[in-house]
Amino acid sequence: MSVITTEKHQNILVIISNNPPVNALGAAVRQGLVDGIEEALSDDEIEAVVVRCDGRTFFAGADITEFGKPMQGPNLGEAIDRLEASDKPVVAAIHGTALGGGCEVALACHYRVAVPSAKMGLPEVKLGLIPGAAGTQRLPRVVGAEAALPMVVIGNPISAKKAHAIGLVDQIVGEGSLAEDAIAFAREQIGKEPPRSSEGTANEDGIKNPAIFDEFRRKNGRKIRGFDAPEAGIQAVKAAGELSYADGVKKEGELFMKLMTGTQSAAMRHYFFAERAANKIDGIDPKIDLIPIKKVGILGAGTMGGGIGMNFLSAGIPVTIVELKEEALERGVGVIRKNYENTAKRGRMTEEQVEGAMSILTPSLSYDDLADCDLVIEAVFENMDVKKEVFAKLDGIVKQGAILASNTSYLNIDEIAAVTKRPEYVLGLHFFSPANIMKLLEIVRGEKTADNVLMTAMKLSKRIGKVAAVSGVCPGFIGNRMLSPRQEQANIMIMEGANYWDVDDVLLDFGFPMGPFQMSDLAGVDIGWHRDPERIETLRDALCAAGRWGQKVGKGFYDYNEARQRTPADEVKQIIAEFAAKAGKEQREISKDEIRERLLYPMVNEGAKILEEGMAQRASDIDVVWINGYGWPLYTGGPMFWADTVGLDNVVAGLKKHGLPVAKLLEEKAAAGGKFNG
Ligand code: 3HC
Ligand code: NAI
Repeated sequence: MSVITTEKHQNILVIISNNPPVNALGAAVRQGLVDGIEEALSDDEIEAVVVRCDGRTFFAGADITEFGKPMQGPNLGEAIDRLEASDKPVVAAIHGTALGGGCEVALACHYRVAVPSAKMGLPEVKLGLIPGAAGTQRLPRVVGAEAALPMVVIGNPISAKKAHAIGLVDQIVGEGSLAEDAIAFAREQIGKEPPRSSEGTANEDGIKNPAIFDEFRRKNGRKIRGFDAPEAGIQAVKAAGELSYADGVKKEGELFMKLMTGTQSAAMRHYFFAERAANKIDGIDPKIDLIPIKKVGILGAGTMGGGIGMNFLSAGIPVTIVELKEEALERGVGVIRKNYENTAKRGRMTEEQVEGAMSILTPSLSYDDLADCDLVIEAVFENMDVKKEVFAKLDGIVKQGAILASNTSYLNIDEIAAVTKRPEYVLGLHFFSPANIMKLLEIVRGEKTADNVLMTAMKLSKRIGKVAAVSGVCPGFIGNRMLSPRQEQANIMIMEGANYWDVDDVLLDFGFPMGPFQMSDLAGVDIGWHRDPERIETLRDALCAAGRWGQKVGKGFYDYNEARQRTPADEVKQIIAEFAAKAGKEQREISKDEIRERLLYPMVNEGAKILEEGMAQRASDIDVVWINGYGWPLYTGGPMFWADTVGLDNVVAGLKKHGLPVAKLLEEKAAAGGKFNG
């Protein structure tokens, strides 16, 4: 069956797309749209047109799988120009998500009606692109440059209500009656001169007040640092005010093509599919029966337990949180409330939502209250004996058929599972701090973890807004295991003469939010310190003995001013020099290139070992972990994709040059001219 069909409703022609799953605008759809509008124009009985989609959504964008391949049939810009050029009114009937090219289709239609639950947006920037079918030129002409900027440059979709408020949607129609309401709306427009977005004048705000562009850059500086597409988006929207429509479209085309052929967009498109692939487990039927999760138990209300609990509360899933002592329980629950109230203060939650979330939280000092939970997540101290004791106890109390999970960062899940009589119901759910915010959920699959238990966890992660990736059981799993060699090299290099601030700056320049020594200062240099100032065996002992406990006391590796800006500290340089001298380490200048190679190549090497051992299903899962859990810059595609772009032969040569080990898989792939991804 054709992906585009038409239906005549007396004098209205309805063009319907049915291209599951998301009505992506592939070649056949584009051709169908052109044919549909031609049918309408050549039929004298037809006086107006409606464009709508069957299935779960209006067009969700260009077909990303076609990118990088030769264009088949009409391009999207040409196809939708035909819609706009029609002298019979054309109405877009929107449900689901009108994204990217889908939003551009809607913009090219003369009118837009949407159901209340619909969303509209231009998320191309998240693929390292800008809209390429005149979206950057039509949108500002309809809603103004100021309202267009966040949509083009940040790329988050807006609700139908907001779209209506800014003039992007003409009418909100009934949730269950889109098809009929759109026809009725179209009928009302017959005989009127169709308004064309390309002729709109709202873009003049950017001419009257050109400061909005720099202001936008300033306000969003942190968010867009390092990315190419946002700046291109700003320039395109600015051009919509400065240039004629035709020249603006040309400018958009040039900016779009430059991005499309660049490495950032390739990396970000890789990531788009990586995130979705990570949800799929080889050999498990995605339709397997899942365990219903209606109530969650959390053990431990410390740093992690509270944040983990918030994920479920926010998703409307009741949580029982258990602590050892009243004081710890009260503190943990207090932190949850405070976090929610801060969110409400920033306008991102209502007071009712705060109370709603808190009302489904049950604090308790008794394990017995966990008996009827469908899933219990343990977040107690990181100690194997403690974990074993806790799991044995939970196993005796929590109902059969419920899942028992550990948030351990490093410990062996199989060993923990072995103390229970239900090892197939045990797995790792490794959240990242702050657990209510960080996107990543590393799901650790034990040797005996049952397929439906694993899939239940995967599905649940989506429900609570996390990005999941599966790891096998190995120390530190995927993420922390790869962090170790980077940390090790950082520590070795500062003993060989590298400046510790250069080490941080190299990672910052690469696109990480911070380097290892900044991170240490933020977390607290004194974490895990033995607290005896007389016992100085490591650099950390020396820093702690000197009271350099990190940002919280105003000094750690760096000295901090009131604004928390860092400057390298003479005292620390001195301490490092003394340690290096004592260890007899020869000092030399270490270039930033060497620092980068020695920090990042060993991570790629560890990633290769993880793949070799089958601890990750695919290289792209490793990319998902590092982008979402550790701030690896998205625009490089993650460590394994980045290594592909550097060239695996270069990575191997770099490792050898620095006397570092090379994993077998890496060596083989490099020798064969292969890649980790594709
Ligand atoms: N092209 C090709 N495939 C797409 C696609 C697209 N634009 N959008 C989604 N898909 C695929 C996904 O890969 C996935 O495939 P799979 O089942 O084989 O893994 C399937 O559709 C379902 O997608 P999700 O799992 O993401 O489904 P959700 O319901 O969670 O989300 C969505 C739906 C919000 C539409 C989400 O898929 C999405 O955000 N899609 C991308 C939207 C986008 O970026 N559009 C802009 C494209 S670029 C463009 O339009 C350029 C233009 O300006 C010229
Ligand atoms: P924490 O020390 O802040 O909290 C642990 C809490 O567990 C304490 O409040 C303690 O009173 C409670 N507790 C201890 N034994 C208990 C028991 N038997 N029953 C009930 N409560 C008990 O520790 P944090 O940082 O929250 O870590 C918890 C787990 O999460 C550890 O396994 C850790 O490795 C892991 N983790 C920690 C991350 C972090 O950044 N802090 C990141 C990811 C995982």
